[in-house]
Amino acid sequence: MIPYTDVQNRLCANSGRWLVTGCAGFIGSNLLEQLLSLNQRVTGLDNFATGFRNNLEEVRRNVSPEQWGRFEFIEGDIRNPDDCSMACAGVDYALHQAALGSVPRSLEDPLTSYQVNMNGTINMLEAARKVGVRRFVYASSSSVYGDHPGLPKVESQLGSLLSPYAATKLGNEIFANVYHRCYGLEVIGLRYFNVFGPRQDPDGPYAAVIPKWIDAMLKGETIKINGDGETSRDFCYIANVVQANILAAFHAKPTAAGHSYNVALNERTTLNELFSLLREMLSRQRPDLANLKAVYGPFRAGDVAHSQADISLASSHLGFSPTHSIRKGLETALDWYVANRRLA
Ligand SMILES: NC(=O)c1ccc[n+]([C@@H]2O[C@H](COP(=O)([O-])OP(=O)(O)OC[C@H]3O[C@@H](n4cnc5c(N)ncnc54)[C@H](O)[C@@H]3O)[C@@H](O)[C@H]2O)c1
Repeated sequence: MIPYTDVQNRLCANSGRWLVTGCAGFIGSNLLEQLLSLNQRVTGLDNFATGFRNNLEEVRRNVSPEQWGRFEFIEGDIRNPDDCSMACAGVDYALHQAALGSVPRSLEDPLTSYQVNMNGTINMLEAARKVGVRRFVYASSSSVYGDHPGLPKVESQLGSLLSPYAATKLGNEIFANVYHRCYGLEVIGLRYFNVFGPRQDPDGPYAAVIPKWIDAMLKGETIKINGDGETSRDFCYIANVVQANILAAFHAKPTAAGHSYNVALNERTTLNELFSLLREMLSRQRPDLANLKAVYGPFRAGDVAHSQADISLASSHLGFSPTHSIRKGLETALDWYVANRRLA
């Protein structure tokens, strides 16, 4: 496999049309920025359910006016088949990210998670099939491992699912692979594990742990850890996720299609370790945080105890080679988190 930098150079020399669904969200807007930076033409689809116009504005500021001119935005809903068809027109590579994330959200409102994540994805698969999209890469999730105790997680070993969200993501994989078998659509699923980085929303009841804690620490609020703090996750910086998407869409051989791949580092960080790491980094600019303590509460429903990805399949089939450890990712993103936290 050639290095990712060579893949980026090849991409720069071959302008194609990409679709990013969920382009106003955290992961989608980072994909959009990278693709525009590589001189690609991009269609974006989003209904701003959990994404922000501000994220698109930030991408506009980070690319050249000429690159931004290659972006076409469609405000639309993946639950609407016509919006999906419009978005797929003329597209070579689709990166389907739009979904309602969060396990707790899906436990509170399983029907809406189902309608967006399942119906929306089937609408997207159907639209992609009809126009003959070359490759359809979509966001799956480590939640599909459910309660399987094995560590690290290998793609073929799934347990019983622990949330409606996990069921929608496994449902996506089942349908995508059926589209591959029945219609030859080249689908690749990427099972993300706790992604973090710039443009991740720190706000609201479903915010992810890293932006939530940074925000709370800077506000001097008490950090509440669910459980005893020994719950562990394979935290994955956004640049690694962007790399996996581009490799899957543009570089991986057709034999990689019809499968799902783990995207993370094959490392495990406990919540207690994460708390210490963030406190150490933030106390460089805010010495008053050096002695901050956390309080412990009950475990959260639907959460698995430990998570760590075996990435050997992604490495051999996609050429995936993560560039950012958790520390390097946090060092890169910290200024963004500090500058962009909501002050309300
Ligand atoms: N962030 C993570 O750690 C993580 C982990 C595993 C999987 N994922 C998956 O990655 C994808 C992107 O997640 P994210 O963290 O960027 O979340 P996000 O909420 O920031 O982005 C999702 C985007 O999809 C849009 N969207 C939602 N419903 C839509 C609809 N009906 N029609 C059109 N657009 C709609 C939202 O407005 C938002 O911009 C999702 O599929 C999520 O399930 C994320």
